[in-house]
Amino acid sequence: MATPNPNPNPNPNPNPPSRRRSSLLRFIAIGILALAILLGIAVLITWLVLRPRGFVYTVENASIHNFNLTDANHLYANFDLTIRSYNPNSRIACYYDSVEISVRYKDQTLATNGVQPFFQPHKNVTRLQARLTSQTVALYGSMPKDLRQEKRSGDIELDVLMKARIRFKVGLWKSEDRTMRIFCSPVLVHFSESKGFERAYCDVEL
Ligand SMILES: *[C@@H]1O[C@H](CO)[C@@H](O)[C@H](O)[C@H]1NC(C)=O
Ligand SMILES: *[C@@H]1O[C@H](CO)[C@@H](O)[C@H](O)[C@H]1NC(C)=O
Ligand SMILES: *[C@@H]1O[C@H](CO)[C@@H](O)[C@H](O)[C@H]1NC(C)=O
Repeated sequence: MATPNPNPNPNPNPNPPSRRRSSLLRFIAIGILALAILLGIAVLITWLVLRPRGFVYTVENASIHNFNLTDANHLYANFDLTIRSYNPNSRIACYYDSVEISVRYKDQTLATNGVQPFFQPHKNVTRLQARLTSQTVALYGSMPKDLRQEKRSGDIELDVLMKARIRFKVGLWKSEDRTMRIFCSPVLVHFSESKGFERAYCDVEL
């Protein structure tokens, strides 16, 4: 006659160490997942509240002075630019820690200059005035011929490029600095000042 087994459960301990460990791992995994989801929601809410809208740049005026292309194909010229920067955001301001503007003609840089660092508050329009000077800029290939041709025609299509190191400011928080590239093309400039200038719009890359 068999004696009844007082303990029919072959595994009497409902929480052996290995199972405890696996439920701890699951708890940690769920915790990490929940944290990631919360973080995602926080980022989304911040984004929605701030709604960073693109900064808008336009070239409002551009003129060329003292244009002189020598027989040795060296270019002397002054380029006067008025660039309008519009920050449409109502909560985001921007520090421009450095701004470099250049004028290009068919992939050759004709002149470059910096602009004083400035701070742009929210909902603000700032106009930048810059004079870029070409001094003995050597031109190669078909460039001299093309430039003389443009001079005769009375106007020239240029590209205006801006490279800025910027930081965003929201309340007291300031972002890391990052590079903003602004590309305005084509910018049609008349050699004669009596002709008006037509505003040119720029693309922004952050
Ligand atoms: C554009 O610049 C030229 C040359 O500096 C100036 O004569 C002209 O008045 C300016 N035009 C505007 C609309 O500001
Ligand atoms: C152009 O530059 C050359 C060399 O610097 C100079 O000899 C010449 O007089 C200049 N021409 C004009 C119209 O300024
Ligand atoms: C934009 O900000 C600059 C610098 O703070 C200020 O001088 C200028 O008056 C502002 N412009 C407008 C339209 O608010």
